[in-house]
Parts: sequence; structure tokens; C-alpha cells
Amino acid sequence: MHLSQKDLIGLHDMSADEMTYILDTAATMKTYLQQNAKKMPHMQGKSVVALFYENSTRTRLSFELAAKFLGATFSNLGVSSSSVSKGETLLDTGYTIEAMETDVIIIRHPYAGAPKLLGDHFSGSVINAGDGMHEHPTQALLDMFTMRERFGDLKGLNVSIIGDIWHSRVARSNLWGLKKLGANVTLCGPKTLMPFGIETMGARVTSSLEEALKGADVVMGLRIQKERLEGAFLSTLREYHSFFGVNEGTLDKWCSKDVLIMHPGPVNRGVELSSAVVDAENSVINEQVTNGVAVRMALLYLLTRRKNEDA
Ligand code: CP
Repeated sequence: MHLSQKDLIGLHDMSADEMTYILDTAATMKTYLQQNAKKMPHMQGKSVVALFYENSTRTRLSFELAAKFLGATFSNLGVSSSSVSKGETLLDTGYTIEAMETDVIIIRHPYAGAPKLLGDHFSGSVINAGDGMHEHPTQALLDMFTMRERFGDLKGLNVSIIGDIWHSRVARSNLWGLKKLGANVTLCGPKTLMPFGIETMGARVTSSLEEALKGADVVMGLRIQKERLEGAFLSTLREYHSFFGVNEGTLDKWCSKDVLIMHPGPVNRGVELSSAVVDAENSVINEQVTNGVAVRMALLYLLTRRKNEDA
């Protein structure tokens, strides 16, 4: 099997078989990581460039490590110090990177659709590392990988995603991915942060934290995106936490003891999740970060292998 598309733009158009194939490959990559094998030949001779128009810690760094562990050359274009600040367009930046024999561009951009546009004009692979409020497919893949590690199968799993659904590309990618792999998805948050009609995409929607937590196998907090919260979406963060914050009290009251706690990060401690919940035994937030490296290794390998087979 190989991936049907040269780019990874989102999970909306990816089949369940392809997602499973990526997750299986990531499991192999994780065994390499666990054996401390961080110098492998899978991508020798390949070149990867990161083009991040928005800040990132986890995604950018894990792509860099993943590429280097597989033997590729990795370069990061600091957008704020590049010719983008002189007015160069996205496509001209893409053509310039292409002229340097680049095999993969990883892009994060504030506008939905930017990775697709770049992919349509770049002969190598483009990986979407988050575009506006659209998708963040590698985050959802690593989230599903983490759930699969714990539960084995996602079929019938009850996953509650709580927080700023409106602005969340993580929620959208998880919704597409989890539904295709058979999970039940509940989206919970204030009505002002809930996209109109999202229940038609297969999610159960509620603004009751109790409803979201009862029966959940997985509780995923989502960051309140202060940088995107213009206008009256929320009154105060303190008030948000009192209605939607997950803390020891709400977990004790409404959840089973072994519920899995997740968050894509960065966490606003005391807002989406209390500090005690972030650091609790059943929190796998750090494991998600480890799994992010394995999933990105798998993707980089599968996309560049696909290109080799096409050549
Ligand atoms: N989860 C996530 O995308 O984190 P970063 O913004 O740090 O990459």
C-alpha cells in the first residue's frame, strides 16, 4: 500500500485504511525511538523545509527531529526574518524552496487553504502543520495513535472534546479522523464557541460539561485561543473554567477513574484543565508529544517513499 496523495492537507479526504496504515507505520517508528535508534537511513538524501507563519513548539520541533532521525536534511525558514517580510508571496516563496531541490515542505499558516494552494504548485510533498481554523491533521493522527495505544481499537470509543471548538483546527481534524475510525465524538463548549451546524458532521454537541464527561473514555481539553478571541466569545477565563474547566472535582463526580486525559498543548493551566489534572496519572499529554515524533516520522517516510516509487 502507499498513500494516494502526494500531500497531507487534512483528514477530511483521507480514507480509514490510509489512516490505519500511517498509524501502523508510526507504531514501528515508535519502537525505533524506544530502542534509541535516532540515526536511520529511511530518508537519506532527502531535504525537508519548515515554513511556519505562526508560532509553534511541538509541531515544528517534532517534525525537525523526525526528519533528522530518518537521515534527512532539515531547514527551518524563519518567516519573520525571510523575504516574506518584503512582500514575497506564498507561491514565490514555494517556487524558491522548490528551486533548492526540496522534497517536503511543512507549512503552518493563519489562512485556511494555504497548504493546499502551495501543494498545487509544488512538485514535492506539502504537509499541513495547521491552517487557520481548517485542519491540523498530524495532531489528530498523533491523538488517535495515543488513543489506539491505550485502547487498541477506536471503534465505539467515546471521545469528548471540550473547549474552543469554533477556532479549533485540532477539533475538526479529530472529528473527521475519529468518526472514520469508528469512535463516537462529543463536542462541548460555550455556545459562542460552537460552530453552527457542526452536529451535521457526525458529532454529538452539548454545552453541559456533565453530559460530556459522563461515559467518556477520553477527555480532550482544547486550548482557549486568546489570540483569536476578538469580540465577545467569552466573558472571563475564570468564568470559562467554572463552567467548562476539567478539574479533580468534575472528574471525580462524572468520570471513571481511568478516563484518559489529553490536550494538544500548549495548555493554559487552570483554564481548560486544572494543573492537577494536567499532571495526573491518567494524563497522557507528554505521551502525545512523544507520539508526535513517531507519527511525523511515519508520514515523512511514507510521503517520500511514495515519491521514490512514482519516479
Ligand atoms: N499542538 C500544537 O500544534 O502545538 P504547537 O503549537 O506547539 O505546535
